[in-house]
Amino acid sequence: MGDATTNGRPESLPDLDEAGLLLDVDGAVATVTLNRPERRNAMTFATWRGLAAIGRSLPPAVRVVVVRGAGPSFSAGIDLGMFSGEGGGLPDGSDAEAADRFIAELQEGYTWLRRPDLVTVAAVHGHAIGAGFQLALSCDIRVVADDATFCMLEPALGLVPDLTGTKPLVEIVGIGRALELCLTARKVPAEEAARIGLAETVVPRDGLDGAVRGLVKDLLAVDAGAAVATKRLLWQAAGNTLEQQSAAERREQLGRLRDLNAR
Ligand code: ACO
Repeated sequence: MGDATTNGRPESLPDLDEAGLLLDVDGAVATVTLNRPERRNAMTFATWRGLAAIGRSLPPAVRVVVVRGAGPSFSAGIDLGMFSGEGGGLPDGSDAEAADRFIAELQEGYTWLRRPDLVTVAAVHGHAIGAGFQLALSCDIRVVADDATFCMLEPALGLVPDLTGTKPLVEIVGIGRALELCLTARKVPAEEAARIGLAETVVPRDGLDGAVRGLVKDLLAVDAGAAVATKRLLWQAAGNTLEQQSAAERREQLGRLRDLNAR
């Protein structure tokens, strides 16, 4: 996608440099770049708070968000320095309520990517490990370079994946495969990722930016209101009965018909 800049960046954002993030807003497209290549885009608490702040402050004109990584990898996951106390260290769990609030705040860095007013695209190359894998899972669509590997490493470190990745993982690959991937913490190469649904598209490494640009163009060519309504509809389909989903389709279509009539 070219070099991300802070062009068009809303004023209310925290220091994104400290968070290891770049934000470029260009009309309807926002590009969020994980930008600590010397650490393989390892993420800190500041990164997750920065992501949440970006989600809160995007201009309403933004319809598509691309999440990508600078340098050799998408993201090596949590910065391992957090385990030795950097950035305040991990909560020890002795204060359950405080730890719950703390993790909930970090999860906000991921949950906004499911908002129906945005289509979110993860452009994944190199490694997507742990928190990085979960970030890719939080996006609607994953475009993946052929050098990419995914790995849910948390259980191997004595943790669970807690950045909202377990639900999309199970929904995408099924419970058996999700268990196998998490409880072996094995690396999933791009070709397998495509086969089991973790990647919508696999492209050669040097074609990743072009493939994402093409996808973004196609996404923006679809009617904006219909895109929002359709994303809302599709995301609730798995949790609804056929009757509930049919009713939701009727409700959304009513809104579309009113909108089209008012134009
Ligand atoms: N946290 C902090 N620093 C990291 C991390 C990380 N997660 N990952 C890489 N780095 C640093 C390395 O320490 C190294 O620093 P140095 O140059 O000062 O020695 C630099 O980034 C480059 O790392 P390399 O290992 O040399 O890069 P390479 O491209 O060969 O390998 C890989 C990349 C596979 C990502 C490897 O670095 C790795 O396995 N990192 C650890 C991944 C990890 O355990 N993540 C935690 C997952 S669990 C979770 O996210 C909750």
